[in-house]
Amino acid sequence: MNGGQKQDFFVFLPPMLRTATCGELRIADVNKEVTLCGWVQKSRDLGGMTFIDLRDRYGITQLTFNPEWDKDLAQKAGSIGREFVLQVKGTVIERSSKNKNNLTGEIEIKVKEFTVLNAAITPPFTIEDETDGGEELRMKYRYLDLRRNIVRKNLELRHRLAIETRNYLEKQNFLEVETPVLIKSTPEGARDYVVPSRLHQGSFYALPQSPQTFKQLLMVSGFDRYYQIVKCFRDEDLRADRQPEFTQIDCEMSFVEQEDILNMFEGLVKHLFKTVKNVDIPKMPHMTYADAMKLYGNDKPDTRFEMKFVELNNVVKGKEFKVFNDAGLVVGICAKGAAEYTRKQLDELTEFVKRPQIGATGLVYARYNSDGTIKSSVDKFYGEEDLKKWAAAFSAQPGDLMLLLAGSADKTRKALSELRLEMGTRLGLRDKDKFSCLWVVDFPLLEWNEGDTNLLESLRGRWVAKHHPFTSPKPEDIKLLSSAPGEVRANAYDLVINGVEIGGGSIRIHDKKLQALMFKTLGFTDEEAQNQFGFLMNAFEFGAPPHGGIAFGFDRLCSLFGGADSIRDFIAFPKNNAAKDMMIESPSPISEEQLKELGIKF
Ligand code: AMO
Repeated sequence: MNGGQKQDFFVFLPPMLRTATCGELRIADVNKEVTLCGWVQKSRDLGGMTFIDLRDRYGITQLTFNPEWDKDLAQKAGSIGREFVLQVKGTVIERSSKNKNNLTGEIEIKVKEFTVLNAAITPPFTIEDETDGGEELRMKYRYLDLRRNIVRKNLELRHRLAIETRNYLEKQNFLEVETPVLIKSTPEGARDYVVPSRLHQGSFYALPQSPQTFKQLLMVSGFDRYYQIVKCFRDEDLRADRQPEFTQIDCEMSFVEQEDILNMFEGLVKHLFKTVKNVDIPKMPHMTYADAMKLYGNDKPDTRFEMKFVELNNVVKGKEFKVFNDAGLVVGICAKGAAEYTRKQLDELTEFVKRPQIGATGLVYARYNSDGTIKSSVDKFYGEEDLKKWAAAFSAQPGDLMLLLAGSADKTRKALSELRLEMGTRLGLRDKDKFSCLWVVDFPLLEWNEGDTNLLESLRGRWVAKHHPFTSPKPEDIKLLSSAPGEVRANAYDLVINGVEIGGGSIRIHDKKLQALMFKTLGFTDEEAQNQFGFLMNAFEFGAPPHGGIAFGFDRLCSLFGGADSIRDFIAFPKNNAAKDMMIESPSPISEEQLKELGIKF
């Protein structure tokens, strides 16, 4: 934000218990009589003089107590502890030793009287940017953690992004409509959180994984441009960029094609970058899912750096090296300027790709030395001439390092994608102040679910919707639905920024028959489809317009703007890795009486 400068809305505030904040007084305010309120950040006693840093949301102002001005007051000041809440009256004076790092560092308050509004026990960790509190302790006392500058700034950023989102969408005539939280299951690829019903024992509400079906119904109602900044709930495996409850900027439009949606929301993202970070984002490229997988082994490629995959089956096969000859795919990357990697560094990379999460069996490398020679880890099988061909395939230059993996195609691409990101990090190519946005388009409509632990067991060994079951197939691919479901492409798209999936959406099916065919392909009987989604399919019979939309992960957007990897510090009261709120100790058992009323027995 603005580091505690005066903001317009202050002028509308009545004085209340204070006349100024702790962030706004400057040298021009010298001689003013002021009243401040805030928390004691720290207190220092220097030869009888007491200096207190008083903190509020807007900044820190130094309070000075001098026995020469008022002996009793100075003595009383000695008993003030950390995090006490004070009201202080005094005069703004110029400081003799100025602190250029603090916006209020040129002045201090000559205190005339103060009131302890509330005492405080010693906090369990220091309320500083660099705190001594571990993650768990800070989560337990999150309200104290939120006093820290660094965390407060994250929430201020979140607020600014929400305001600018509303500003943009308001100008585009979007209407914010609230949809219910106690609903029926919406399949978005995770398990539902459910709420038992007391009035209908044995029945449950589900918390929305997204407002997907409601926003589609709003289109049937004629609200042609809808949005909502809305909480969603998903019971899935947690990671740094996932929370069980998270927030979406959820949007839907009628009478549009894919291109219209991409343009509208590219506009939103550009507006946010410009107004919040003063960054100009160029026209965003479109990349097909197939290309993303081929060139980066990933449907959310980090395009801040190149290092594209080079497929080498035609270049490396046919020698005595069995690993390459037996592999479905030999594929590699060229790390510019990394030929001087030491043996130790290369061993580290080998260990990296062999970790169970990555799953490669080994790593082949070839150094293109600055003297023009090429040395590989498989010199026994490939001579200088062969390696020259590798270098040509990679467009490698002297000084570059070629890294190759081999195995079954999908697994090898996935592993190389991880290695590419690791190399990007090691070579300093993933600058947090650089932003590379792209649309990944033409996702497959369906994917074969081998054993995704985020899905119910009954969905294993079946086709499941890659995005969700309301996504429209590309019209030209509909004919493949029964014969080759895996090849059907969808009118679905993701917004990817710096390798993070920031948003995703699709053009929807708006025809009852096609929706019924989709449910059939997903293995629903007519009866199951009618039971679960009859309301939507029936609505389609009352004049559903062509429509489509997108949802952005708002927490992810905030952490991207804040230059962080985890979304947790951009959420006021987040859950930990085990989906627990450590502060309120939730989830927790409920009383026998409550269970009985709900008709739940164990
Ligand atoms: P999708 O499931 O892709 O689409 O979700 C949209 C975006 O929400 C974010 N996101 C999450 N963020 C934090 N924690 C989570 N657990 C989490 N899960 C998802 C991601 C993602 O891109 N109804 C559709 C949208 C549509 O089709 O319009 C939907 O929810 O950034």
